[in-house]
Amino acid sequence: MAEFKYTVGDRTIVPPGTKMIPIFIMGKRYEVPEGLTILKALEYAGYRLTRGCGCRAGICGACVTVYRLADDYRLRFGLACQTTVEPNMYLTQIPFVPANKAVYDINELSPDIGTIEKLYPETFRCLACNTCTKACPMDIPVMDYIQALIRGDIKAAAEISHSCIMCGMCSLRCPAEIQHFHVAMLARRLYAKYIQPKAKHLAKRVEQIKAGKFDWMMDELMNLSDEELKKRYKEREWEPEPYDPNWRPKETKYLIIEE
Ligand code: FES
Repeated sequence: MAEFKYTVGDRTIVPPGTKMIPIFIMGKRYEVPEGLTILKALEYAGYRLTRGCGCRAGICGACVTVYRLADDYRLRFGLACQTTVEPNMYLTQIPFVPANKAVYDINELSPDIGTIEKLYPETFRCLACNTCTKACPMDIPVMDYIQALIRGDIKAAAEISHSCIMCGMCSLRCPAEIQHFHVAMLARRLYAKYIQPKAKHLAKRVEQIKAGKFDWMMDELMNLSDEELKKRYKEREWEPEPYDPNWRPKETKYLIIEE
């Protein structure tokens, strides 16, 4: 695949001999270099993206895109910043569609089915058609976490929905008009607050930080010159790849093994 270099802004510099492929943006045909992401192809075609694009790293969910390929009945979904163009791809950018979001104080909720019923009653309208799962650009089995919530299994819903990027495509496609991504966020909050075992070692470490146990390390760093800091950074020890749980750095004075 051709390699693209970028200069200032988003202008794509195309190496000579790069294969060009046809795509359709809102019905108009464009020739774009093979290998571009959909976002880059839109920009190559002359579109300036002021909406529907954020992190460009597959995290924010702003760029979710619906498309079809020529002679294929299927609707396809992908993140425009991660999905590369294919010949005869028919693209239309769909704006984010707002979904109803319940207002609550997490401290006043209980982690059970009653909370889901109260805050997101439409969840129980699920038809189990699985359209939400097919629409998810993150390949999350969305219907499975909705069904878990209907059974009152908050833990399962939180774990299944863990990679959700809140793009909202599930809700947009749902014939039962469920707010999947918002109810999943609620499940993860309930799980973190009430169900997940507490990280006692973390609480202890926070206490130690507050008590000043590590102040000497900060003082040491703050008193280094820029040159010494750069030297330390360059000479820092790296954990082995793949990670070895038995690995220990040669310099152990900064290792605080719990007593
Ligand atoms: S721009 Fe953020 S996920 Fe694509």
